[in-house]
Amino acid sequence: MKMFLSGLALALLTGNAIAATDGPVLIKFSHVVADDTPKGQGALLFKKLVEERLGEQVRVEVHANSSLYGDANELQALLNNDVQLLAPSLSKFSQYTPKLQVFDLPFLFDDLDAVNRFQKRAKGRQLLSAMEKRNITGLAYWHNGMKQLSATQPLQSPAAAKGLAFRIQSSPVLESQFQILGAKAVKLPFADTLPALRSGTVQGTENSWSNLYSQQYAPVQPYMVESNHGVLDYMLVSNSKFWSSLPYSVRIELDAIIDEVTYAVNNAAEAQNREAREQLAASGKVNLITLSAQERDAWRKAMQPVWKQFEGEIGADIVHAAEQVNRRSN
Ligand code: SIN
Repeated sequence: MKMFLSGLALALLTGNAIAATDGPVLIKFSHVVADDTPKGQGALLFKKLVEERLGEQVRVEVHANSSLYGDANELQALLNNDVQLLAPSLSKFSQYTPKLQVFDLPFLFDDLDAVNRFQKRAKGRQLLSAMEKRNITGLAYWHNGMKQLSATQPLQSPAAAKGLAFRIQSSPVLESQFQILGAKAVKLPFADTLPALRSGTVQGTENSWSNLYSQQYAPVQPYMVESNHGVLDYMLVSNSKFWSSLPYSVRIELDAIIDEVTYAVNNAAEAQNREAREQLAASGKVNLITLSAQERDAWRKAMQPVWKQFEGEIGADIVHAAEQVNRRSN
């Protein structure tokens, strides 16, 4: 109670009384994926650790599967302080900062280890604060994994994508990435993707193995290409005013919990995606296409021209820093 009174005094002094209440602080953590995915597991682990260590002071509600807010309204809900934690895909922030679009550039990162290195270096860490002026604080990067292509027909080469409609996240880079192939890119919330694939509004999409599997796309996406052409990662974010209004000692403990959860999520993500890939392969419902080095190169050549289109708005320094991480020597 004493801590909360001092938190309240501090909050009043700073004008940030947003989290200062009599009872435990409620943190609503909303997300759009299933529980058995890297982000879903991370949210549940966060709740468990907070209950164990801060049970008297903080209560956490996890709302999975777009059950509280979906892609269309979750960031606005965060800004309204109707929800206090989100972990949107990095592709969903373009309205708040152009810089995070670096993560959408196709074939920029060789693998998840390279993504990890970028996120840990100075430029990557700075991007966590890129939306402070918009009242969004980046707390951590959480991995999902590399993206794969899926469709109603085999996409062995980029020419096969021509004329198809692909569901994409709300990212201008991803839009260009498909348009450059002569395909149509349709921005849809995650929760609307399966219905659109079922109805035939779109014929293809891209996602990590864990999302392709847990969303049960297999019956309507019989061809999945192990393209590893991009990355699907997340930024754990809070409302800046809410976060800074938390009593200092509570925030310190939450930061420590987030570090622990981030470590767990990022260590488990690759194995979770490998397992999802194996389940899809074993299901008998999916033709899992692997690409030869030459075929992958053809995809790279077809998609990579979008880098030039976006380098100016992302920042050439950021793109170059990201390119560096593929070189193991530094
Ligand atoms: C997510 O993993 O949060 C959803 C990604 C998507 O919208 O495809």
